[in-house]
Amino acid sequence: MKKIIDLLTEEMARGFERAGYDPSLGKVTLSNRPDLCEYQCNGAMAAAKQYKKAPFVIAQQVADCIEGGGVFSEVQVVKPGFINLRIGSEFLADYLRRMEQEEHLGCENIGQDRTMVIDYGGPNVAKPLHVGHLRSAIIGESIKRVSRYMGYHVIGDVHLGDWGLQMGLIIEEVKERQPDLVYFDESYTGEYPQKAPFTISELEEIYPCASAKAKEDENFAKKAHDATVKLQQGNRGYRALWDHILNVSVSDLKRNYEALDVTFDLWKKESDAQPYIPEMVKAMKEGGYAYESQGALVVDVKEETDAKEVPPCIILKSDGATLYSTTDLATLVEREKLFHPDTVLYVVDKRQEMHFNQVFRCARKTGIVRPETRLIFLGFGTMNGKDGKPFKTREGGVMRLETLIQDITDAVYKKIMENRTVEEQDARETAKIVALSAIKYGDLSNQASKDYVFDVDRFTSFEGNTGPYILYTIVRIKSIQSRYSQLGNRKEPVLQSCASGCEKELQMELARVNEVLETACREMAPHKICQYIYDLANVLNKFYHETKIIAEEDEEKRAGYMGLIGLTRTVLETCIDLLGFRAPDRM
Ligand code: ARG
Repeated sequence: MKKIIDLLTEEMARGFERAGYDPSLGKVTLSNRPDLCEYQCNGAMAAAKQYKKAPFVIAQQVADCIEGGGVFSEVQVVKPGFINLRIGSEFLADYLRRMEQEEHLGCENIGQDRTMVIDYGGPNVAKPLHVGHLRSAIIGESIKRVSRYMGYHVIGDVHLGDWGLQMGLIIEEVKERQPDLVYFDESYTGEYPQKAPFTISELEEIYPCASAKAKEDENFAKKAHDATVKLQQGNRGYRALWDHILNVSVSDLKRNYEALDVTFDLWKKESDAQPYIPEMVKAMKEGGYAYESQGALVVDVKEETDAKEVPPCIILKSDGATLYSTTDLATLVEREKLFHPDTVLYVVDKRQEMHFNQVFRCARKTGIVRPETRLIFLGFGTMNGKDGKPFKTREGGVMRLETLIQDITDAVYKKIMENRTVEEQDARETAKIVALSAIKYGDLSNQASKDYVFDVDRFTSFEGNTGPYILYTIVRIKSIQSRYSQLGNRKEPVLQSCASGCEKELQMELARVNEVLETACREMAPHKICQYIYDLANVLNKFYHETKIIAEEDEEKRAGYMGLIGLTRTVLETCIDLLGFRAPDRM
């Protein structure tokens, strides 16, 4: 269904055309002076130059040519030549009623089933999920949902980090602690045990311990490096141990992501790309792209217009080892083979921008991706504490995601208990739902590329531009709806037209939803959805305070109000679902 602003523009364009002017001058925008009008058209100002006539004269001629089809209820020409507009109330109400009937709130299908791979999450095996991974998960999940809603065939891939030095560190540390384990017996040829020789909490303790040890003890660092190489070369025992690390880790990660309501279609890993490397390297050499430089194999990726130096992309180190970039390139080979994507989007910390710039250029140059494939890097900023430094625990350590979620949930629980509208046994469940909205909205309401301050008090507030405020608004509507039916109202709620005031304001806000979602999708900008629902919630609450809804005596009118708030609820709930959270029944 066409966007309302486009319908208004078309009507205006017809006016310009009938008056003998270029119809493309008829662009309508939302008014920047809502006290004077609802929409405006400034086309006569531009026309004045083109046609060498006074803008006021042109505007008047155009206004005279707007026919009484009801699209506009008022077309007013003001000096020096602006056209102030009000939308026809029946036209608006009719638009909203149709929108409610349409699938996807009347959004156009802009994805057209094109395939988009989204690489997000990016946790590393055996390292606990920490807040650094939070942003990727939250932003990626929302973009996944929005793109899918708008018609893309989306594949979300967690792209586990399972191939680096961290694996060697763990293996070496396990070896030091339990040297007799069968995995380290080179002569062993039998089956390896089903059960892992560690639990997740042991694993989480092993990694930081090994990592610290490697920094101090050169000998240990060397052994860990060798263990990594041995693993990558396919040592049986090491592989079996690595499988255990992977399994234990992945089930813990899944549990964590579930708590965040983040789901992946694919649980691919860096190691899955390794089989593609030999062939890829061969092709790069044969194509004349890769050459040896100081023993390493590299591909030049600099371009003349670069303001900043872009170093060559290293494919193999001098000892033949592969790197992060090698894995990412081979992953693109795999993605092209398996999914033939039109777009590959990476939601990763913006500090990795140079890496992706090199990888993208190398992939294009060497023909790993087709020329028309879009490779997009969405780099996000850092989540800081109130001190402006990267978010830490009170003791200054890395904050675990689970701890963070628990802290927020506790804060919300307290607030809910103060409100006393929720039964104690339900309060825990409700607190979880509300806490998630606080975390996700707090993150998503900022432009992704910017750093932001994670402020527990502000994010969990039930007032202001927060997730809980949006939920509070939805809960308010839900409770009006249940009172409406409790009071025995039988009349089907159907949105009605309205000439002015905050009821109309609410309708106009609702009519924008398809435009907002389309923009958010095209620009991969969930913060635009946040902005929109905050505005929408504000208008809804204004309407609520100024209107007797349930107490309205005119049955027809009452049903009309219910229709209006019902649609508002649908729009808000759709939007928060696209952001990745949901509303409770009470709070
Ligand atoms: N595991 C990486 C990290 O923690 C993020 C992975 C991002 N995705 C990618 N294809 N490189 O830094």
